[in-house]
Amino acid sequence: MTTAPRDSIPVIVDCDPGHDDVFALWLAAGHPAIDLRAVTTVGGNAPLEFTSLNARVALTVAGVTDVPVAAGAPGPLARPLRTAEWIHGKNGLGGPTLPEPAFALDPRTATDLMVDVLEAAAEPVTVIALGPITNVAVLLRDRPDAAARVREIVWMGGSTAGGNATPHAEFNAWVDPEALALVVGSGIPFTMVGLNVTHTALVTADVRARLAATGTRTAAFGDDLLDFFGRTNEEHFGLADGPLHDPVAVMAVAQPDAVRRVRTRLDVEVSDPVTAGATRVDESREPNALVATELNVERFWDAVREALAKLT
Ligand code: BDR
Ligand code: CA
Repeated sequence: MTTAPRDSIPVIVDCDPGHDDVFALWLAAGHPAIDLRAVTTVGGNAPLEFTSLNARVALTVAGVTDVPVAAGAPGPLARPLRTAEWIHGKNGLGGPTLPEPAFALDPRTATDLMVDVLEAAAEPVTVIALGPITNVAVLLRDRPDAAARVREIVWMGGSTAGGNATPHAEFNAWVDPEALALVVGSGIPFTMVGLNVTHTALVTADVRARLAATGTRTAAFGDDLLDFFGRTNEEHFGLADGPLHDPVAVMAVAQPDAVRRVRTRLDVEVSDPVTAGATRVDESREPNALVATELNVERFWDAVREALAKLT
């Protein structure tokens, strides 16, 4: 169960688990600065039925059974879904045998769950988005009244220096650029935590040993996930210490001083079929976003380790 301290930040996590999404959920559930109020899922790394199962598996492994999980968009606003099974496996969580989730999917849609959380909260709520940002775009489009209660949106995706899905675009941006453009243009405070920073969150042998040494069930399951994720990252990107992208966005909320940002202009390529999903940063123009530029890697892994140690 999560027991959030009184002054913690109310958060909704929107995700598409995904190996790194799982670590992000654990960091959000186990970090004392975060009060995880709800989880919503989107089609991304894998089809929605898998990501909705995987989010509940992740929380079940960690002993967190009191956070509602609701399914959202099966695919992007205006394009067919393209998954990342080459990195995450067909079911989105290749590697370990998955336990049965200890709780059912919430009957509400992702939008309805987000609206309920936003309306019930005494203060504005932070949204951390870790996949194609379709669900957040749908919330802004369909329920602007409730979206006005979003404090900020912190998104893992994009890049200031080339992509991983194409030479131009990072995966989450590439899958649903229309949604991303809508969210960035909404006027709600927006932070992009892109590959330029997450590629410093490398799971080295030393990091892996430190995480495993916490000895929890969650850490053991995580180690199995890292076996698979490390292998696919090496095969497809030649990255021996596969970067753990999504928890960096959680870190930017939990310990903002560990993630340096610049205020800048951020534009998303929507029309050009070759460069669709490219995120372009121009500091000389009127700013509309914050863009992460540097992570305190030591503090990041300490935070992940402490969260794993706290969970079951
Ligand atoms: C992002 O794409 C997904 O495969 C990961 O979960 C992460 O959100 C990295 O490009
Ligand atoms: Ca993700």
